[in-house]
Amino acid sequence: MSTAVDVLIIGAGAAGLHCAATAAARGHSVVVIDHAKQAGKKILISGGGRCNFTNMYTSPENFLSQNPHFCKSALSRYTQWDFIALVQKHGIAYHEKTLGQLFCDESAKDIVRMLMDECDAAGARVQLRTEVLDVAYSDGRYQVKTSSGLVSAHKLVVACGGLSMPKLGATPLGYQLAEQFGHSIIPVRAGLVPFTLHDTDKEHYAELSGLAVDVVAENDRASFKEAMLFTHRGLSGPAMLQISSYWLPGEPLSVNLRPAADTYADLTELRQQRPRVGLRTVIQEWFPKRLALALCEQQGWPDKKLADCNNTLLSEVAETLQQWRIKPNGTEGYRTAEVTLGGVNTDEVSSKTMESKLQPGLFFIGEVLDVTGWLGGYNFQWAWSSGYACGQSV
Ligand code: FDA
Repeated sequence: MSTAVDVLIIGAGAAGLHCAATAAARGHSVVVIDHAKQAGKKILISGGGRCNFTNMYTSPENFLSQNPHFCKSALSRYTQWDFIALVQKHGIAYHEKTLGQLFCDESAKDIVRMLMDECDAAGARVQLRTEVLDVAYSDGRYQVKTSSGLVSAHKLVVACGGLSMPKLGATPLGYQLAEQFGHSIIPVRAGLVPFTLHDTDKEHYAELSGLAVDVVAENDRASFKEAMLFTHRGLSGPAMLQISSYWLPGEPLSVNLRPAADTYADLTELRQQRPRVGLRTVIQEWFPKRLALALCEQQGWPDKKLADCNNTLLSEVAETLQQWRIKPNGTEGYRTAEVTLGGVNTDEVSSKTMESKLQPGLFFIGEVLDVTGWLGGYNFQWAWSSGYACGQSV
């Protein structure tokens, strides 16, 4: 079977579906192909099944890219408010959870249904269970050999995402196609991903699995005030996922375990007010008992009354609690990462249209590009904004 269309989109994920509806609404014949059995698989499991579909405070500062200016044009032409208006038009109830993060009240299925309805209404066809076997370009058209036959298209949109979560269908096809047409790839790595710890640290903190504390996690490039979660493999929770995108192997992390406090001032004041109370008791008043004990054991802090603690000891305790240094062993990698950092070099793509500057009629949208958002709905917003910019220009 052979089909000829104006626009062929590879990837029925967030970016591909939004682009398809936008392009078809402008009168183009559009086909979206995907090797998965279901469209929008990541949307379906995102946000614990409720999809954190955007963030009210989205701005270019919430994105990582070798070219931080690249995302500006698309984000400003299709904003979080435009997507919220679409969600409202479809009668989907939603709420703000925290920090501007918007989630469906009911289910992420509502978002996939909305995107599929938009595609249907505009006449874009979504064809699942379709493998891409070969892509060639001749006489101004793309000839894409698939497991369901040949598709010939005037414009080809690569919307097949990054490498995170291979069990949900992630493949390197997007990067391979980019390279085939002469594009360079900014080295990729897992982002928004839990850390694993070295065996010695794991032993110390293994019993803390499931415990969460509010912290500031930082390095010299970024700082996030959110919750940190101890897991049986290492450290997770929003603060750790966020800083993981700014972390390079071998680097330590600094974690402020008492972000709202001046711990040295608190300790010296307590020494005056409650001199007979033990140092370890005070630490147990500040943290869950399991964490307090683990910290005291690991740091070798004595079980002394505060009156017997000199300034040097109190200053050491304060410094450790406010700048707890931990050196991760690595991350859990693409298996559990929410996103892939790096990707198609944005210097070779138009920020207005998402079209390749090297190859006419070839477009890249969504996560396959070297644009990665923070945790909190920013990655979907990038998918909607880049998909729209492309859909408007194909
Ligand atoms: P996406 O990955 O959505 O779609 C790519 C599509 O291409 C898939 O349908 C895939 O099957 C298809 N494909 C891949 N290779 C192919 C091949 N060889 N042939 C044919 N088809 C192929 N973000 C956010 O903002 N809020 C959130 O709540 C979450 N939550 C979240 C949870 C989890 C568990 C993950 C893994 C990720 C998130 N994210 C998120 C990130 C978000 O899901 C991600 O950034 C977007 O889905 C990216 O959209 P794309 O359309 O670019 O890729």
